[in-house]
Amino acid sequence: MTTNNERHLERALRTIPWGSQTNAKRHDRDGMDQRPAFIKRASGCYMWDLDNRKFIDYRAALGPIILGYQYPPVDAAVRKQMESGTLFSMASPIEVEAAESILDTVGWAEKIRFMKTGADACTCCIRLARSKTQRDHIISIGYHGYHDWFAFAWPNPGIPEALKQFVHEVDYGDINAIDQLFADFGDQLAAAITVPIEWHLSPNPEFIQHLRTKCDEYGTALVFDEVLTGFRLAKGGAAEFFGIEPDMAAYAKGMANGYPLSAYAGKREWMDTLDQTIITTTYAGETLSLAASIAVMDVFRAEPVHEHIKNMGKLLREGFEAIFKETGFPASTVGVDQGMVIDFSKTKEDAHKKLFNALYAKGIFANEQWFISYAHQASDIENTLDSISTSIGEIS
Ligand SMILES: Cc1ncc(COP(=O)(O)O)c(C=O)c1O
Repeated sequence: MTTNNERHLERALRTIPWGSQTNAKRHDRDGMDQRPAFIKRASGCYMWDLDNRKFIDYRAALGPIILGYQYPPVDAAVRKQMESGTLFSMASPIEVEAAESILDTVGWAEKIRFMKTGADACTCCIRLARSKTQRDHIISIGYHGYHDWFAFAWPNPGIPEALKQFVHEVDYGDINAIDQLFADFGDQLAAAITVPIEWHLSPNPEFIQHLRTKCDEYGTALVFDEVLTGFRLAKGGAAEFFGIEPDMAAYAKGMANGYPLSAYAGKREWMDTLDQTIITTTYAGETLSLAASIAVMDVFRAEPVHEHIKNMGKLLREGFEAIFKETGFPASTVGVDQGMVIDFSKTKEDAHKKLFNALYAKGIFANEQWFISYAHQASDIENTLDSISTSIGEIS
């Protein structure tokens, strides 16, 4: 029987290339037939597909959902702002309020400006670094979005060949490669942009500190791409987690609980480069997302959000480890409790796919990475662990 999901997918593919706007949401990415192509509604840590199947969600809309879907005080703040308007012909006072509130939460940065996507925010940091240093070369660690300055890793016809010479990609943790690049290009390096952690690896404070030292030595901007770590790893993101301050950082997911907002923030001397280069876009001061962000920051200040996320993540992780041990399933958990990853490198080739497909069938929605929100409760974790146990039994 054809499901509503299947019918809707057929319709979507007639007008929308991929049938979705985001690569990670493509229905055909890994052929898991139990994963729905569409989600109709979500609330707390649950979501429902077009056939009314209910899921406990660990994907958090790819990271932005930090408090849970439709968190009432955030949505109320958005509704209230809607009564005054969404976008005006001049700046809105809510931009100042949001700037102050976010800088206060982040702790280390002195100035901030808004954008809409993570890729935008990273690109702005790169532009400011290049503008201030008058250099072109960049060291890049991790994924930073689809923009032309960076997106070489995929087969990506459409990016001018000439741009590729300026970006030097390095694996997270590879200190030797960093040293070599600074030796070869030191006085041409505008920025080293890094994801502060790679989720499938252990956090590497020595690597981040090494980057900080090298950047200081050469006058290169250290940029943290906090798009995924910001407001999730800790209230003050990776800068707080490591106790190491970058010169600039890009923020996005987790700052407005799913409303479209990103930001680039940093030390005054880097941010004031906006005196000499123009970064401008019409929707950056859109007020609904800013209202959402102020409400999110208020919750961060008032409630133990990050403690809860870490505790629930730890509970889930310990449960996974116990099940792997008990069943002899040759997997393990890696990364941090706030968004651990299951390492399938010792399992059979298709075990990963089979396990996740079995989990989707039981109403557990996860990907490689397990994101916890403030909405997940111990009972959700217990349900999830029961499903993991049964699924391993089925596929072994
Ligand atoms: C670390 C990191 N940087 C940048 C991006 C790009 O963000 P966006 O998809 O909002 O453009 C992502 C998206 O997943 C990301 O994880």
